[in-house]
Amino acid sequence: MIIVNFKAYSEAEGDKARELAEKCRQASQETGKKVIVCPSAQDISKTSIDGIRVFSQNVDPVKPGSHTGSITAEGVKKAGVSGTLLNHSEKRMKKEEIKASIELCQEHELITVVCAQSPEECAQLSKFEPDYIAFEPPELIGGNTSVSEAKPEVIEEAVRSSSVPVLTGAGIKTRKDVEKSIELGCEGVLVASGVVKADNVLKEVKELCQGL
Ligand code: G3P
Repeated sequence: MIIVNFKAYSEAEGDKARELAEKCRQASQETGKKVIVCPSAQDISKTSIDGIRVFSQNVDPVKPGSHTGSITAEGVKKAGVSGTLLNHSEKRMKKEEIKASIELCQEHELITVVCAQSPEECAQLSKFEPDYIAFEPPELIGGNTSVSEAKPEVIEEAVRSSSVPVLTGAGIKTRKDVEKSIELGCEGVLVASGVVKADNVLKEVKELCQGL
């Protein structure tokens, strides 16, 4: 699978979020590979189109109630989301918050992808039994060198350390980056700038799909 994280990029907001989701769906349909879009919370409804799965970028460890500004598992489920990232490097959570959010997501049958910055964290966080761990070295996020190129041995260690399936991300831009990640034992990749900032989004997502 490929998870396309829209982050809070201006290229992926409002109507542009919908266009991006449509291109991801087209790439997925043309290649037969699973592509998941992960828009910011304000664009979840814009990207909820038939034929593509939508993930939230975060779920807070709270139930519906007096929690101004919070994103709840119940709320995103009702908005049509099928899973969520948790603990992204740009949205770090405390261990007990990660555990509580996973439990709330499980109650609402949401797939959980918990981000981890090191093989040690992959080991620790996989004990909370999310559906996936996503290994992303923070220093490579948003850059031009991919994790699979720069740290193949660390990806292997992350896969060995986790008790649940592993995805990887950071700097992923080419079919080769995806192929290498899969070869090292990952089930898929997370990508943001490589797709969101691509001149030709459809071509880019199709190329990445071909590496799966
Ligand atoms: O969640 C994916 C992300 O952190 C990787 O970002 O821009 O390096 O693909 P990027």
